[in-house]
Amino acid sequence: MAVYKILTEPDPVLRAKALPVRNINSGVLRLLENMRDTMYAAEGVGLAAPQIGVSKRIIIVDPGENCIVLINPEIIRLEGEYGGSEGCLSVPGKVGWLNRAQKILVRAQNPLGENIEMEAASYLARIIQHEIDHLDGILFPDKALKIRSDDK
Ligand code: NI
Repeated sequence: MAVYKILTEPDPVLRAKALPVRNINSGVLRLLENMRDTMYAAEGVGLAAPQIGVSKRIIIVDPGENCIVLINPEIIRLEGEYGGSEGCLSVPGKVGWLNRAQKILVRAQNPLGENIEMEAASYLARIIQHEIDHLDGILFPDKALKIRSDDK
């Protein structure tokens, strides 16, 4: 079990464009384990590799059922729009209101290196869009229509 420190704004790694994964080797598999441990320890619903300081195009998401790993994810179709609130482990203490596509089709590789396509809607689609933004150095406040402090 390896729980990493989650980088927070204004760490420059969070603003870099992450590099594609060319080879799913043992280092990448270990990174996936570390990302899982870190996400669950932080009680997050998603995590992108740059958030633990690794500028590679890998995200994991868990809307509450199981952990989905998406390597080199790309959104190839977007449909609809809906607003909702978002927070981020890398932007502590803030919650924003953002519009996201309601439905998406994502292409990626799984940990076996197989090409997969996955449809997602609503909450899961929102998490995936948020995590993919991390791979391009985008944080939710960049897109938020409103931001408030999270005084829970
Ligand atoms: Ni985030």
